[in-house]
Amino acid sequence: MIELPQNFTIFSGLLSVSLAVLYLLRKPTKSRGLPLPPGPKPEFIIGNARHLPAHSPWLQYTAWREKYGDILHLEALGNHIIILNSYKAMHDLLDLRQIYSGRHPLQMVDILMGWGRLTFSSQGETWRKHRRLMRPAFQKDKLAAHSRNLEKPMRACLLELLRSPEGFQDHLRLFTGRTITMFTYGLKVDTSKDPLIEVPERGFARSIHMSLPGQAPLVDNLHFLRYIPSWFPGASFKRNAKIWRKELDGMVGDPVKRVKADMAAGIAVPSFTSTCLEDTTHSENDIMWSAGSLYIAGADTTHALLSSFFLAMATHPEVQKRAQAEIDGVVKGNALPTFEDRENLPYIECLLKELQRWIPAVPLSLPHRLMEDDYYGGYFLPEGSIIFPNVWALSQDEAHYKDPKRFWPERFENPETAELDPYKYTFGWGRRICAGMNFGDATLYLAVVSMLAVFNISKPLDEYGNEVEPEVTFGTGVVSRAEGFKCTIRPRSDNAAQLIKAAVDEMAW
Ligand code: HEM
Repeated sequence: MIELPQNFTIFSGLLSVSLAVLYLLRKPTKSRGLPLPPGPKPEFIIGNARHLPAHSPWLQYTAWREKYGDILHLEALGNHIIILNSYKAMHDLLDLRQIYSGRHPLQMVDILMGWGRLTFSSQGETWRKHRRLMRPAFQKDKLAAHSRNLEKPMRACLLELLRSPEGFQDHLRLFTGRTITMFTYGLKVDTSKDPLIEVPERGFARSIHMSLPGQAPLVDNLHFLRYIPSWFPGASFKRNAKIWRKELDGMVGDPVKRVKADMAAGIAVPSFTSTCLEDTTHSENDIMWSAGSLYIAGADTTHALLSSFFLAMATHPEVQKRAQAEIDGVVKGNALPTFEDRENLPYIECLLKELQRWIPAVPLSLPHRLMEDDYYGGYFLPEGSIIFPNVWALSQDEAHYKDPKRFWPERFENPETAELDPYKYTFGWGRRICAGMNFGDATLYLAVVSMLAVFNISKPLDEYGNEVEPEVTFGTGVVSRAEGFKCTIRPRSDNAAQLIKAAVDEMAW
């Protein structure tokens, strides 16, 4: 962040003038006489900057729905921000109109730190090339060939849960990390300290921090600051950006170097990267940046949903019992459930939907950028607006879900009365829809059925051995994860414990 030397009045004067100029020079718009959507009253020059919540903004946006309706407008330092609070508005705009598929580059994170080169931040031809690389790899039939690479880390995770159940969050984190690095690079990681896991996690956390309201440096609003030299007083943001950019280059470049060396030595495990490299029509740069996007986009989201799964099972034992009974009825003999069992597990299918809905992993989805002026519902939506679909509001909307706070897979059971399918909105929208949706879904399926087959999950115990309510906190970045809670994880029987050990002996990680 920029550090203002004390008494640096010239700088603050310059800042005020710049803000005023920005305010006055806002692009003239073609509103066709339609108003902007309603929202909290903006203040002079800074607009709604002080209204933007720093923590869990989806909660405030949901509360504002009562007052302002399904489409809400905010303006912060020249940026129009539109919050969509209904499924209809999200679907009509983000699914059906292509002009909503842009992204809004942040000066610090995307341009100076270089994150704009990753798929989820990129735009135009680069983004299209990334999506073309990813499409074949994530088709359901291609993923089937990868199923053993999911089963191996799953079995390792079951053993880790058996040995040290209190470390379940670490085991889940390592499990999701292993599945993605194996899929992306064919590389095996043994601990969560491996740079393939630690470096992207650290980078992602930093990029989120640097984009939060109040944390982002001034350059995000005063773009000309990007051109001041790094040695200039107060320009530490430029020096930091340079260091962090180098780390990001290493994060995406180093694993690809390893894959190439393995390919040359004839020992590469087939992966997204090796398959793309074999086709010489692709540019190595595109392969590198698409591959580097997968860990960031896929690991935290999948981990968040697995964390919610433990919370849901601990607090809804009736759901757990029914799901276990269904699995027991399908998996005969001494075996773990597999992908082939999925079509015979309809209640598990409902449970997976409920998992997506109950605590959505990405409660405000990723913001889209409107690329042309648009008109909807009697409102004017200006070009360049940053559009947030408030997935949290939708998932908790009583108009769609009976008793939304309850984890209740039965709401999806009867096709004739089923409530709104969360797969229609938790993975995003239109051409920007999650590229790894099938992979994430397959990972969650395998984890949920494997864990339910061998473990009972219940509430934590107090010092006298009585069950107590889990105490939960929620992360507040792009991904919101249930954190800090404890639960009791025990093998369902001695036989279940033996099954885990035998499964690991049969297919070691
Ligand atoms: C299982 C949980 C997951 C959830 C809930 C989820 C959700 C999302 C959401 C909401 C978006 C933004 C979509 C939009 O802008 O409209 C997204 C984008 C993306 N996801 Fe996922 N995701 C998950 C897993 C994964 C996995 C496992 C991978 C890859 C291995 C992945 C790769 C991506 C990529 C590359 C994008 C960027 C798409 C683009 O901008 O074109 N995701 N995801």
